[in-house]
Amino acid sequence: MKYSLKTGGLVALYAAMVLSATSVYAQRRVEDFNGNWRFAKGEQADQVTQIAFDDSGWQTVRLPHDWAISGPFNPSEDGYAGKLPWKGVGWYRRTFKLDKADAGHRVYFDFDGVMAFPKVYVNGHLAGQWDYGYMSFRVDATAYVRFGETNVMAVQADTRQHGTRWYPGAGIYRKVTLTICDPVHVAQWGTYVTTPEVSDASALVRVRSTIDNGLGAESKVTLEVVLLDPKGRSVATGKKDAVVPAGGSAEVDQSFTVKDPQRWDVTRPNLYAAKTLVRRDGRVVDAETTPFGIRTFQFTANDGFHLNGRRVQLYGVCLHHDQGPLGAAFYPRAMERQLEIMRDMGVNAIRTSHNPPAPEVLDLCDRMGLVVWDEAFDKWDSTADRVQGQPPLEQYGQRQIRSLAMRDRNHPSVVVWSIGNEIGTGGEGVTPERVKAMSDFFRKVDPTRPVGMACCIPDMADRPNFDALDLTGWNYARRYANYRQHYPNNPILYSESASALSTRGFYELPLPNRKTEYSRQFQVSSYDLNAAEWSDIPDAEFKLMKDDRFVAGELVWTGFDYLGEPTPFSREAKSSYFGIVDLAGIPKDRFYLYRSTWRPDTVTLHILPHWNWPERVGQNVPVFVYTNGDSAELFLNGRSLGRRTKGVLPDRPANFAKGQPAMAGSSQGEHAPNHANDGTKDTRWCAAGADPNQWWQVDLGEVRQIRYLAIDFEREEKNYGYQIKVSTDASAWQTLVTKATSRMPQWGGPTQIFHDVDAKARYVRIEFTRLQDNAWASIREFGVYPEPVESDYYDVTYTYRLRWNDVKYEPGELKAVAYKAGQKIGEEVMRTAGAPAAIRLTPDRKEISATGDDLAYILVEALDAKGTLCPLAENLIRFKVEGPAEIAGVGNGNPLSIEPFQADQRKLFFGKAMLILRANEGRGGKVRVTAQSDGLTEVGVTLSCRAVK
Ligand code: GAL
Repeated sequence: MKYSLKTGGLVALYAAMVLSATSVYAQRRVEDFNGNWRFAKGEQADQVTQIAFDDSGWQTVRLPHDWAISGPFNPSEDGYAGKLPWKGVGWYRRTFKLDKADAGHRVYFDFDGVMAFPKVYVNGHLAGQWDYGYMSFRVDATAYVRFGETNVMAVQADTRQHGTRWYPGAGIYRKVTLTICDPVHVAQWGTYVTTPEVSDASALVRVRSTIDNGLGAESKVTLEVVLLDPKGRSVATGKKDAVVPAGGSAEVDQSFTVKDPQRWDVTRPNLYAAKTLVRRDGRVVDAETTPFGIRTFQFTANDGFHLNGRRVQLYGVCLHHDQGPLGAAFYPRAMERQLEIMRDMGVNAIRTSHNPPAPEVLDLCDRMGLVVWDEAFDKWDSTADRVQGQPPLEQYGQRQIRSLAMRDRNHPSVVVWSIGNEIGTGGEGVTPERVKAMSDFFRKVDPTRPVGMACCIPDMADRPNFDALDLTGWNYARRYANYRQHYPNNPILYSESASALSTRGFYELPLPNRKTEYSRQFQVSSYDLNAAEWSDIPDAEFKLMKDDRFVAGELVWTGFDYLGEPTPFSREAKSSYFGIVDLAGIPKDRFYLYRSTWRPDTVTLHILPHWNWPERVGQNVPVFVYTNGDSAELFLNGRSLGRRTKGVLPDRPANFAKGQPAMAGSSQGEHAPNHANDGTKDTRWCAAGADPNQWWQVDLGEVRQIRYLAIDFEREEKNYGYQIKVSTDASAWQTLVTKATSRMPQWGGPTQIFHDVDAKARYVRIEFTRLQDNAWASIREFGVYPEPVESDYYDVTYTYRLRWNDVKYEPGELKAVAYKAGQKIGEEVMRTAGAPAAIRLTPDRKEISATGDDLAYILVEALDAKGTLCPLAENLIRFKVEGPAEIAGVGNGNPLSIEPFQADQRKLFFGKAMLILRANEGRGGKVRVTAQSDGLTEVGVTLSCRAVK
C-alpha cells in the first residue's frame, strides 16, 4: 500500500507512523503529483506528447479533475448518466523536473483512477496504459525520464467506448503520486499481511514482502519488519536475508506473534502497522508502512455475520463513486464526510457499488470501523470498459481482479470480494465456469476472504451458476428465497435493499397508496412511502432482516443520491431519488428513520412534513414521527393529538366482500373461490389453468355504495390484465375498470392493486382478459370498501414510525414528546415559518488545511424573522469567498435542477443549499464567506485555513 503524504484530509491517524517510516530511513520518496496540470478537451495533434508542444492556451487544473462536472447539462438528454458531457477525449499535460542526484533510481507514477482508457506518455513515449477506468495502475517511467532536466507527461483519457448505467465522470479523477526509489525496493502492492491465528491471548501475524530488483545484477538484501501496535509502539521485529535475482523479484515470508492483540472491530477499529525496511549492504534503501488489523470474521449460513466471535447485524449502504456537485473527482474529505454521516445513522457496512473505490475509501473504513463489500465490476461488459469481447474475458478479469485484490488485501475493513453485480446469462454473462474463474482470480491473491456476487434473478440458482461462490448477495424483494432452498448451507447477504425514493423537503397529499404511485411533479414525496417497482420501503426491509436472521444484513440502495439513474423520472431528472441523503449531502427524512431503527439506544426524534401548508388550512396533513422511542404524543398549538405507540395498527373499514358467497369460472384443487374473500392472504382462489378467460365474482348480499377496490394477487399485478364489472341484479353489468397486462420481468414488483371507483352494486366481478404468458388467475384477497383504505403494504410502517394520519392543518406549532419504556426521551418542535428574512450559514468545520484538496461544506438555509427555517424557500443565494480558498461546488439536492454545480450562486431548494469550499494549496489564512440574496439580510462566516508547508 502506498501513501501520498501530502494528500491532506486523510493523512490522519497513522500519519506519524508513515512519516517515521518513510522520511527517517527511506530513500523512497512519495510525492503528490496533482498540481500544475494543463488540460484540454478534444483530440490533439501528435506533438501533444512532446515537450515542445505549446499548451499555454490550455486550462490549468489541479487533480483530482472531472472535466464533465462543470457542464453544461444537456436537458434533452436522457438522465441515466446525469445529462453531463462526459463522453469524449481529454488531454492532460504536466512538466516536471527530476534531480540529477536521483539518476539510477526507479521512477513510478501511481494513478488511482482515470476515466477512461488512459494512455500515459512520458517525453513522447507511451509509458503505460490501462483498460478499466475505475482501477488503479502504475506506470514505470524509469526508462523514459531525464534526470536533471525538464520532462513532460501527457495523459489521454477517452470515454468514448466506456459504457455506463450512471454518471461515470471523465478524466484523471483520482490522485496521482510519484514514487522515486532505489532499484531494489518493495514491489507495488508487494506487502501482504495476514493473521492466520487469532485468539485473545495472541495473534500470529504473517508478513510476506515481495522485493523487486531493477539492477542488472542480483542483490543481497536483508528485510526487516517491525510491527507497531495501535499506539505506534514496536511489538515484534524480525529480519531475514534474501537474494533478489537481477531484474527479478523475491518473496520474503516472516511470521510474528503479537501478545494480547487489540482487535479491529466495528466498535473499536484498532489498527496495527507493519514497517518494512529493505537493507542493502547494511544501508536502508527502501521502506514502507502497511496498516493492518487483527480480527476474525465469518459469514455463516444460519446466523449471519460474525466478527470477532459475535454476531454483528450488518446495517449497510451501497455508495456510488460520485460526490454530487464535485462529480467523480475524488476528495478524501468528501468521502470522509459521507462516511461520517452514514456512521451517525448507524451504518457499519459499505458496498462500493459497482466498482473498485479510490484507495482512501478503504483507509477511511479501516479507521472508522466499517466493513466493506469490495466490488470489482458491475457487468463484465462495457461498464467495465470491455470493448466487443476484447481482450478475452478471462485474461482481462484476471488482470483487473489481481490488481484489486493486491491493492486492497491488507485492509481489515474488506470482508467480501465481489466479482460483479446483477450479471445475467446473456452475452459474456454468468456461466458456472466464468464465475469460478473470476472467483479463483481473487482466491489466488487472497484466500482469506469470501468471494461473492450480487445476484438478482432467482431462477439462476436452479442451475450451478453460483456454485463457485463462497457467499451470494441478493438484490431486493427477498429474491434469495430460491437460492436459500437450493443452498441451505451457504451464507447470504442482502446486497441491495430498499431502493426507496424521495426528494428532500417535498411532500405531496394525499399520501400514495402504492409504492409506485409517484407525484406528477417529477419529485417523489418525502413521506417515505414510495419505492421502485422492484423494491420496497425501508420498513419492509427492517422487518425482513429481523425475520431472516440467517441473512447477514442489508446494504441499502443508496446511502447518498448520485448523478444519473433518476428512477422513476429517468428522462426528466439528472440525479437519483434513491439516496437517504440528497445529492448536496443534506439528509432526507429517511435518514432519521434508519437512525431511529439502527441506533435504538441513541435519541432520534424527527417530525415530518414541514408545517407550512397555507393552502390546506382545515384539511388533512398527516404527521409522522421517526424516533427510537416506542411512543410519542403530538401537540398542535398546545392541544394533544393523542399518543401513538409503535406496533399498533389503525382501524380499517370493513370489507363488504368478506365471507360473502363467491364463485368463479373454474378453480384448482383446494383453491376455492371463497378463499379470495375469507379475510386472510394465506389462502387463495386459483383458476384451474392458464386460461385467459377466467372470472371470479362475489355477491355482497345487498346493494352497497362502493368507492374502493383493493385486490391482492398471488403474483405481481403486472401479470394480470382484466376488467372489473359491477351489477345490482347480476344481469345488467357496468364496467368500472379495464387494466392491461405488462411484459415486465416476472420477478419482483407489487402484488396489490387499488381502484378508486364510485358505484352502487351488489355483484362485483373480475374477468381476466389478458394474462401474461402462462400466468393463471389467482387472487389472495379481494376487498370492496365504502371508502379508500390504506394498503396493508404499509402496515409495517406502524412498527417503525409513529403516524398521525388525520391532522387538520392549522399554522402554528407542532410538538412531539417521545417516550421509551415509559421514560420521556426528548421533545421536538416544528413551527410554521413566515417569509424568508435571513440566511444562515453552517459550516461542517471551522478549520481546514491548505492541502489543495481539503473541503468545508457550508449548509445554507433561509430563516424567517424569528429564526424559523423556511421549508419552501427558493431564494437565489450569491456567494463571495475571500482568502485562500475557492468554491469547489454548489448544490441543493434537486434532482431536476440543471443549474451548474460550479458557480458562485445557487437557488435554495426547499429552504436549503450547500456550498462546498476547497482550500488552496500551501498558503494558509482566514477565509471569509459571505452570502447575499435580494431582500434577505446578508451574512458571513469566517473559517481558518491551516498552512501545511
Ligand atoms: C439494481 C442495480 C443498481 C441500481 C438499482 C436501482 O438492480 O444493481 O445498480 O440500478 O437496481 O434500484
